[in-house]
Amino acid sequence: HDLSRANTLGLPCVAERLAAAVSDAQLCATLRLAAERGWPLTLLGGGSNLILPERLPGLVVQPAMADWWLEEGDADSVRVHVEAGVNWHELVMALAGRGLWGVENLALIPGRCGAAPIQNIGAYGVELCEVLEAVHLRYLADGREAVFTPADCAFGYRDSVFKGELEGRVVITRLVLRLSQAPRPRLDYGDLASRVRGGPTPLAVAEAVCAIRREKLPDPRHLGNAGSFFKNPLVRGELAERLLADHPGMPHFVQPDGRVKLAAGWLIDRCGLKGWREGHFGVHERQALVLVHFGGGSAAELLAFAAAVAGRVTERFGVELEREPRLAG
Ligand code: EPU
Repeated sequence: HDLSRANTLGLPCVAERLAAAVSDAQLCATLRLAAERGWPLTLLGGGSNLILPERLPGLVVQPAMADWWLEEGDADSVRVHVEAGVNWHELVMALAGRGLWGVENLALIPGRCGAAPIQNIGAYGVELCEVLEAVHLRYLADGREAVFTPADCAFGYRDSVFKGELEGRVVITRLVLRLSQAPRPRLDYGDLASRVRGGPTPLAVAEAVCAIRREKLPDPRHLGNAGSFFKNPLVRGELAERLLADHPGMPHFVQPDGRVKLAAGWLIDRCGLKGWREGHFGVHERQALVLVHFGGGSAAELLAFAAAVAGRVTERFGVELEREPRLAG
């Protein structure tokens, strides 16, 4: 099974076996079969935050249950149940279109809903964990079901228990979100406020976010990429102060614990690497945080290119960059 079109980086990958599960029963049967046969399992969502190897032995499972429904909450909130296979952006636009507040800042993030909690997707000042009420999942080893609270998920910036101790051990089957019917615009990030047309509605905010993203981020249908390739680094206060003395305009965000979050894109840009190309990969010309694949490359080549970029940043600024997309297989 050729997965080169099933990952937004467009990396070549051949899976030994592939199964899309369109129902919970089918998912359970698939997990049982894999356990019986001893096949290594790889889970695939929208493939938008994943680096695939050239061969994936065993079985690739794609949760494809794709229903979502509303449950009335109290006077001003609504619960939304969303199965793992629902496309995230389509869900956001449907909810924003109904006038519900909470996910509009997360418009145009690629991928499927089941993957959203893994890296706690976030953009324009909002993170998924702020609207998430529960995560339904199954353990791969025995198919057992569990419901996690946000505390169980141990969410952090682009982080959760699903990237940590539960990595490769569970499949997320459903999310429960809590959205607000009362207006709760979150317009404090960058120039978002000035980009919203008219009095803010969830749809107007979502459309402004889409417009900003389209200006900076390459469309994976035309140019392979996985969004931000590096996390924005958290550094000690002293290092940030030293860097700020030399670069007073450096974007920085002081955290409650005293550490400072820097903009990886700015650091890469300042190394003069925006638009840098080597072989089949490059640094995007409009957003230095995004690495792009021009076609014909491999995962190994991408990782070497990324290491070269990160190495230049460490050399120049003494800051280590951490990769954001996960390695499969
Ligand atoms: N900057 C530059 N040069 C660049 C890129 C950025 O100087 O090439 C500067 C910008 O001018 C700005 C600062 O760096 O002052 C931050 O840039 P921006 O607001 O574009 O956000 P980001 O830090 O590059 C993060 C997320 C994005 C998310 C945006 C908006 C991470 C790793 N990335 O990017 O998430 O959309 O904020 O909230 O946290 C993703 O995860 O795939 C992703 C796209």
